[in-house]
Amino acid sequence: MYAIPFLDLPPLTGASGTVTLPGSKSISNRVLLLSALCEGTTVVHDLLDSDDTRVMLAALRQLGCGVDVQSSTVTITGLGGRAWPTEAIEFFMGNAGTAMRPLTAALAVHGGDFTLKGVQRMHERPIGDLVDALRELGCAIDYLGNEGYPPLRVRQPSMKLDKPIPVRGDVSSQFLTALLMALPLAALDRAITIEVVGELISKPYIEITLNLLARYGIAVERQGWERFVIPAGSRYQSPGTIHVEADASSASYFIALGAIAQGAGIRINGVGADSIQGDIRFVEAAQLMGAQVKSGPNWLEITRGAWPLKGITLDCNHIPDAAMTLAVMALYANGPTTLTNIASWRVKETDRIAAMATECRKLGANVEEGPDWIKVHPLATGRWKKTSIHTYDDHRVAMCFSLAAFNADAVPVRIEDPKCVAKTFPDYFETLFAVASADTAQIPVICIDGPTASGKGTLASRVAAQLGYHYLDSGALYRVTAHAALQAGLTLDANDEAKIAQLARTLPVRFDGEQVLLSNVDVTDAIRSEQGGMNASKVSVLPAVREALVDLQLSFRRLPGLLADGRDMGTVIFPKAPLKVFLTASAAQRAERRHKQLISKGFSANIERLRADLEARDARDTSRAVAPLKPARDALQLDNSQLSIEASVQQVLDWWQSRG
Ligand code: DC
Repeated sequence: MYAIPFLDLPPLTGASGTVTLPGSKSISNRVLLLSALCEGTTVVHDLLDSDDTRVMLAALRQLGCGVDVQSSTVTITGLGGRAWPTEAIEFFMGNAGTAMRPLTAALAVHGGDFTLKGVQRMHERPIGDLVDALRELGCAIDYLGNEGYPPLRVRQPSMKLDKPIPVRGDVSSQFLTALLMALPLAALDRAITIEVVGELISKPYIEITLNLLARYGIAVERQGWERFVIPAGSRYQSPGTIHVEADASSASYFIALGAIAQGAGIRINGVGADSIQGDIRFVEAAQLMGAQVKSGPNWLEITRGAWPLKGITLDCNHIPDAAMTLAVMALYANGPTTLTNIASWRVKETDRIAAMATECRKLGANVEEGPDWIKVHPLATGRWKKTSIHTYDDHRVAMCFSLAAFNADAVPVRIEDPKCVAKTFPDYFETLFAVASADTAQIPVICIDGPTASGKGTLASRVAAQLGYHYLDSGALYRVTAHAALQAGLTLDANDEAKIAQLARTLPVRFDGEQVLLSNVDVTDAIRSEQGGMNASKVSVLPAVREALVDLQLSFRRLPGLLADGRDMGTVIFPKAPLKVFLTASAAQRAERRHKQLISKGFSANIERLRADLEARDARDTSRAVAPLKPARDALQLDNSQLSIEASVQQVLDWWQSRG
């Protein structure tokens, strides 16, 4: 996940491959709450790990549920048949609507002394219709801030269940879902009827709810979309084990990707034709726009069909979340696309109609909007504008606009606050980059070259983390090569040059965070020693060895970008890199830093010896015949003798920004 202020997407040219998507947010949080209300234990597989599910899990723990998380398998021991806590509890719900609504209903129907709060945006998202329905039932709920909005306080109800309970269906279907999941708590000795007032929106989400309730032993009787009856004697029963299917809304970005990008197609695993999620019908909308789709029970395969895509007019009430993706596909169409019946967009994580319109306009598109519709005109080649997409703390806005990077004008796209995708899809961008392709020349590389112990590694890896880029420590490759050569009984000089080069060409090296693994053996400490550096310097003068490592180094240039540190990154390996930094510091300074570093790790060290070694390595690295250490002609010099690491990082970022 990218915890960085923005992510720059280089122009993307194609996509192909297989993606496995995370579990559905809607299903995950429903399953968690239902498992919590059951008696006994439920093993939930493929649970989504996201902000919303973490909020729900934290709340369930506060209520006294057993919660055991083993990566994506979570075991819940329910509260059914057990006493709920009697003390006052305060729940923090973040901005997680899928946790806030059903939990409010369950807590209010059961009763206790509970306070539910969230972030500011949560306090701006209406909940009055749910509270009205719950009050009608006899629940005791007070508003602690503005009337109609969280935060809320819930107390002991005095239930009145004899007449049908009215709930508005035209603001958010989550209110009805919340009631359907909570009311079985009160249906032991009587049937309970819910009556929907107004046209029910987002019916497919209600179908998910009914489907899952059935899995948990609650057979709700549905009379049209107006009346729902929970039969007398209803009791939550654990299904024992349940699998969460992949999120169909998340699939929409990859369905769109298959429709937009050139390539052999995209295969999506985890969700398909048998899905219980309404958003799976996004597939039909994508087909209308031109996508070619094949599907099986839990997979989809999408390839580009009509190109440009076809502009459409579509009532999107049945696919409210996934429909946002259509608004970005519309930029690639042959005529305008009008999406109607999307009033619910206005009360989601942000006002999504306004957000999609504003950001499409920033890309250069002409967009019209109304209270419950949006009309997006396509963007012709030559009209795309370079812009920075604001994401409004809305995961879907961020994911949608990543698709704009496929524009024919090869305009890069900046996505602000990319970590907001964590709400439903923490690894969205990594998943996208694994299947998307770009012209290698368009994938940005920043080179940081300089002498031993100048702090290149720290600087480069910190800048990489700031930008969300990959990191190549080329020195480690020479160190590992020398290590492997010594292990093979070779001498580190010209006599064994061909053999060392052969080893280097097929080096089984892998980087795992800070660790360096050679044939899956951790060699980090061995190669990081002073002797390891000296050995690397020796093999690095051998031209055949340098040549043998070129392809491996080039292979690090992957989306979304690369920070490369070494001696010849800017001069030999990436001569066209848009930013090259040559880092220097006096030998005295470097010896002092290295000395501190070694002492802090518990090694003994002599500062004069260190300085002599550094100077010897500098001399060899700068005087060798091939790829000697020297600044590239277009490198910017950075003398960090007097700079803190933070200041050096900032300097490189400033240079990068100004390259724009
Ligand atoms: O950066 P480092 O100290 O880990 O590098 C170890 C040795 O490897 C260094 O003395 C010279 C050599 N090297 C090189 O020749 N070219 C590179 N791109 C990186 C390192």
